[in-house]
Formats: sequence, C-alpha cells, structure tokens
Amino acid sequence: MYYVQEIADSIHWVGGSDRRLERFENMFPIPHGVAYNSYLIMDEKTALIDTVDSSISALYLENVTHVLGGRSLDYLVINHMEPDHCANIEELVRRYPDVKIVGNSKTFQFIEQFYSLNKSENYCEVKEGDQLALGKHTLQFFFAPMVHWPEVMVTYEQTEKILFSADAFGTFGAHPGTIFSDQVDFEHVYLDEARRYYANIVGKYGIQVQAALKKLAALEIRMICSVHGPVWRKNLAYILDKYDRWSRYEPEQKGVVLLYASMYGNTENVMNRIAGKLGEKGVRDMRMYDVSKTHPSYIIADAWKYSHMVIGAPTYNMGLYFVMEALLHEMAGLNLQNRKVALVGNYTWACKSVPILRNLIENMKKMQIVGKPFEVNSAMKAAQEPELDKLVEDIYTSLIADGYQ
Ligand code: FEO
Repeated sequence: MYYVQEIADSIHWVGGSDRRLERFENMFPIPHGVAYNSYLIMDEKTALIDTVDSSISALYLENVTHVLGGRSLDYLVINHMEPDHCANIEELVRRYPDVKIVGNSKTFQFIEQFYSLNKSENYCEVKEGDQLALGKHTLQFFFAPMVHWPEVMVTYEQTEKILFSADAFGTFGAHPGTIFSDQVDFEHVYLDEARRYYANIVGKYGIQVQAALKKLAALEIRMICSVHGPVWRKNLAYILDKYDRWSRYEPEQKGVVLLYASMYGNTENVMNRIAGKLGEKGVRDMRMYDVSKTHPSYIIADAWKYSHMVIGAPTYNMGLYFVMEALLHEMAGLNLQNRKVALVGNYTWACKSVPILRNLIENMKKMQIVGKPFEVNSAMKAAQEPELDKLVEDIYTSLIADGYQ
C-alpha cells in the first residue's frame, strides 16, 4: 500500500527505501540501506521531481498514483539521469503519454542512451535560470554539472523556497520511517554515512560542489530535498557547512587515521606501536584499519574526516602490497588532498614499498609527508625504537602545530 508524506503545502514526498540492497552502485556496502526520494507537486499543473530506483518501483508508482488521485502527470523534472533516480521514466511515460519531460540538453542525450522512448516531442528543454509556472508554485532550474554527473541540475521551488538538490546533501541510509533530519539524531544516525556517501560518490568533484554552493548562496532556501536520505527543514546551516568543508578538502577534525596492510603481522605491529605511543602523548582521535579487512569506502570517509594519516604496507612482488595500492589509487581518484601523511614500509629482500607509497602520496594535491618514513626489514628490532619514537614525535608535533588539543 502507498506510503507518502506531505512536506509542504501541496508538495508530497513519494519515495521509499531499500534495506535489502547489499552494495550501492554494486560497489559500496550499505548496511543501513538507502533511501530514494521523489517529490510530487499538486497544483494547477502537476509536477514530479525525479523518480526512484527500480528496486522500489512498485511502491513508488502506487505512491504517485495515490497522490495524483486520478489526475494526470503534466511534468516530470529530471534533475539527474543516474538510474537510481530515473528508472521509472519509461513506465511514467507509458502511463502518462502526454507528460512533458523537463531537463537540459545533456539530460535528453542520456535519456536516449539509456532508453528507447522515442518521445522527443515530450521533451521540455530548460536553460540555466529558466522558470516553469505550475500555478501557486513556480520552479526554477539551476545547473550543477558534475554534482555528480554532467547533466545534473537542481530545482528551486520559489513559493515554499525548497531546493530539490539531486544527489547533493544526500546520504546512505534508509529512512527510519520518518523522513526529516530533525526527526532523528542526525549526527549519530547519519553523519558517518553522509560523509562516506559524499567522499566516495561526489568527493572527486569538490570544485564543482563549491561552484554549486556559491550559486545556491544567492537563494533563500527553507528546505533541502535531496534524492537520498532525510529532508532538511531545520538547521540547514549544519549540512551546508559540512558540504562546504568536505568540498574544500578541509579536515573536519584533527586526528590520525592509521591504515595498514600486513601479511604476517609485522607491519601491523609497528602501526600498533605508533598508535600506542601517540595515545601515551594524549592523542585520543585515532582510527586504525587493516585495508585487507575493511571496505575502502569506510577508510576513505575517515581520511576525509581527519587531518593526518599514517600509512603502512609491505613490499609485494617487487612493488606495493596490492590492496594498499588499489586503495591509494582510489583515494587519489577521488581527489583527496590537503592531508599530513607519515609512512611505514616493510620488506624482506627488496626495498620498494616506501618509495612507491611516497610517490603515490606526493602525486596527490597538497599532501605533506611528516617525518622520515620508517622502514622495517621483515620485523622491527629494539634498535629501531629511537627512530620510531622520532617519527611519533614528528606526527605529534604536526598535530599540535595544526591546533590539536
Ligand atoms: Fe543517486 Fe548520482 O545518483
């Protein structure tokens, strides 16, 4: 049976959640599920903003039919053409053959690539700043290319001052039944997943997110309706500030993420010793990950959060341990920058891991190597203790210089 909520006068949330999907984009684990939001405006003209993933199509179409109450759908606004939001376009066009599909030239290019609609006469192409009057409500369109695909635009509803923001301000995590961010303890329920979503899905496009934020700053916004996660109607500054910080690659918190690869525990031993010594100096904000165990999306999310990293890995096949190499390529691909990094290497007969780690890190923007990389020849020996202490001191000094308290 349908499940909808009216979020403002004549504006209805008609989305849903998927708690069964194992991996978003078939890549990112989503233990808390994911929500797909769509919004239906009932006015002299009816307008649906985005659709949802095919996994919840049955409920979604029931929701839309219920809210329409026998009326036809006049407009279908497509802010984003990724299939987790556009999977129902064909079915909606079948049901409402006269519906005008609102998008930009790239939107229609992607529609033709994904589908075989043959309904170009239904296309309603908009340009930056164009307006569409529905009656009491007027929609205005602003392009936000690469947040997260090139065709992305956001839709601003002028009467209620609602921003329909596509993927922006979204998060992993199904709705807990309620749909507003102020109906949950967002910081504890969603924030880590919102950061993981941002870093891994949108993180590469910080410049484009900054451009979009500057554009949106000119609008009075009372509500943010993303296509994923809760609707924001209170304390909008909180999530706007997170997006601003994340997209500037500014750490949210001073602290250290220790990430290591270790085949037989010798590199892990060094990492534990570093963390222990930092703890003895009073550092409380640390996270440690075995990259062979934890999915990279979680490690990358914490790399986005904290100011410092310690990266440790052994040489493998005359190169770098594969899992660590893959993780660092992913981190570089997502454009992470502006972090302080200490290095730990291990080798038995070929000293390769430290130069490769250094090269990978130095090829990322605004990364600073802290201290002298610490190298272990198979296993750490007592004679190396002063050298390790020096590296720990350098990491600690760097944290304090950054304002760590
Ligand atoms: Fe949720 Fe870029 O799609």
